[in-house]
Amino acid sequence: MGDKMATLTIDGNELQLPVYNGSEGPSVMDISSLYKDSGYFTYDPGFLSTASCESSITFIDGEKGILRYRGYDIDELAENCDYLSTCHLLLYGELPDAAQKEWFDRKMTLHTMAHEQLQFMMRGFPRRAHPMAIMVGAAASLSAFYHDSLDINDPEQRELAAFRMIAKMPTIAAMCYKYSIGQPFVYPDNDLGFAENFLHMMFATPCEKYKVSPILADAMDKILILHADHEQNASTSTVRLAGSSGANPFACVGAGIASLWGPAHGGANEAVINMLEEIENVKNIPEFIERAKDKNDPFRLMGFGHRVYKNYDPRAKVLRQTCKQVLEELGIKDEPLLDIAVELEKIALEDEYFVERKLYPNVDFYSGIIYKAMGIPASMYTVLFAIARTSGWVAQWKEMIEDPKQKIGRPRQLFTGPEGRHLDGSVIRKTA
Ligand code: CMC
Repeated sequence: MGDKMATLTIDGNELQLPVYNGSEGPSVMDISSLYKDSGYFTYDPGFLSTASCESSITFIDGEKGILRYRGYDIDELAENCDYLSTCHLLLYGELPDAAQKEWFDRKMTLHTMAHEQLQFMMRGFPRRAHPMAIMVGAAASLSAFYHDSLDINDPEQRELAAFRMIAKMPTIAAMCYKYSIGQPFVYPDNDLGFAENFLHMMFATPCEKYKVSPILADAMDKILILHADHEQNASTSTVRLAGSSGANPFACVGAGIASLWGPAHGGANEAVINMLEEIENVKNIPEFIERAKDKNDPFRLMGFGHRVYKNYDPRAKVLRQTCKQVLEELGIKDEPLLDIAVELEKIALEDEYFVERKLYPNVDFYSGIIYKAMGIPASMYTVLFAIARTSGWVAQWKEMIEDPKQKIGRPRQLFTGPEGRHLDGSVIRKTA
């Protein structure tokens, strides 16, 4: 039974709904027996008021601009931890101690290489293919290579699949990039850290070593931490829903990547840079602000607004600072896109339309400028999001599989199509 009961009166009948309190955040009403007891479904398109699961991984307070992984504030983690420790935290609930860190980092490192056959699959794609299109296929295709980690009921196989996915994603992402520019694939170098290795695979060639700047590696690592998990967002919910049928985790992550690709979700970081380039000059900002406010114009300010945050996205705060450090490290004194971004943010934060709707910059607003400065093309931005979010997807998938209350996800609907009819045009009589 719940912590208290809510009473719902419907058609003259009183129903008691158990209410559960979480450790933080809004309490929930358990409506799982509503249909059985009343014959009604609940209706909540876009899940505005629906908790789809119980989870102990990530907490968000959108009003206050708080994001926590396993209780730790995101800015504290970004400042003091690295991405692999964050993965350990997401997967196992605690940051690793020294021995656990050595074990975990080594385990991850041993899985960085992609199966040699994967390159042949990749070579079948047109060179101009969007890297996200390749990522969707390549991630799901891992299930074709690793038959020894597909049994979701075996905890060891689940763990192995988790390691493989987190460790191989940067390798696959860099392969997508190398393929698109016609350069040979670069193998991982296991002497390098996670983010450092990714930059190495992106920018080294067999002829030229690439000396990874520690400041850029650190910035990339921070970006990975900030994007690692975000409770039940669209792609994570997709991974959970796909996994609820018992599908293997590689296929589920492929589904998550597909969901992430949309411009309302992870695709926004690419859209922000395209928008800043389209704005072109600070003097054009007012015209774009007006377009964003015009209900007859589909244009939205990309990198602004969030379903959950009604305050400054805490991830954007960290990235704003990181963005300045990266530009400084690279000696970029004059970045017109940053000037446009800073001015756009200033104007939007004072504009009544944005203030009233609580539309603040989100995580995607500054990440694109950092990537651009690092020399990463816009088509790779959402891929980077996918590399980072893989740890969150895997942790959430694992949590779901290990939850004894887990059932296949099967939403219902409000049907508004034609009532039953025969081919001769007559109506099918309703039965009681
Ligand atoms: N520019 C202009 N108006 C906006 C914007 C925007 N970026 N975002 C929301 N609005 C308006 C919207 O038109 C609506 O106005 P009204 O109440 O007058 O109809 C109101 O604000 C509420 O918007 P909504 O679409 O009902 O809000 P939502 O919670 O369904 O959508 C969102 C959230 C992120 C999809 C939306 O804010 C958006 O499209 N933002 C731009 C895309 C973007 O930056 N996405 C990245 C999200 S953060 C990364 C991630 O987690 O994936």
